[in-house]
Amino acid sequence: MDRLMKDVKHVLIDRDRIRQRVQEIGADITRDYAGKETVLVGILKGAIPFLCDLMRTVDLPVSLDTMCVSSYGDGTVSCGKVSIKKDLDRSIEGKHVIVVEDIIDTGCTMASLVPLLKSRGAASVELAVCLDKKERRQIPVKVRYIGFEIPDEFIVGYGCDYAERYRNLPDICTLKNEIYEH
Ligand code: IMP
Ligand code: MG
Repeated sequence: MDRLMKDVKHVLIDRDRIRQRVQEIGADITRDYAGKETVLVGILKGAIPFLCDLMRTVDLPVSLDTMCVSSYGDGTVSCGKVSIKKDLDRSIEGKHVIVVEDIIDTGCTMASLVPLLKSRGAASVELAVCLDKKERRQIPVKVRYIGFEIPDEFIVGYGCDYAERYRNLPDICTLKNEIYEH
């Protein structure tokens, strides 16, 4: 990873800490969802690494689906509605849904997605987010499983991107200032 790592300022959370924490969340989900018909819904594209790691620590017969959404609130005024770029493949009616997301920031995206999924008849909808920027929240959102709370800093890696790059960094990192300058 030398070519990507040369753009990195700090490693905030390294791959070993991530692996350990994901394991703990997987154990929690295994305990909480035993006997329930459960669907893990990964939010593309950022959740891909977290979803891949998390699903393999859940010792239950869960199914898997994905959505691609974007919230069109501009982050300064109130949150907008969520726009769906790729919807679920299968019905979630009567199912217990765990939305798997890379990072929760303002909360706008999840605050509109959760009611939408509930309105489709899910038995329950909970969130598993890898990273939580709590101090940035504009709308309160209940997050059942949180990997790490992080400060209000722009991060990349483990699925999170800057201009679609750095998602494949295995650690959660900040970038050198010069990267934002071109
Ligand atoms: P929000 O909670 O609706 O504000 O949106 C969260 C989404 O914003 C996440 O799913 C990320 O795609 C993106 N995001 C927020 N903070 C960061 C960051 O520090 N790095 C990369 N993406 C981020
Ligand atoms: Mg995202």
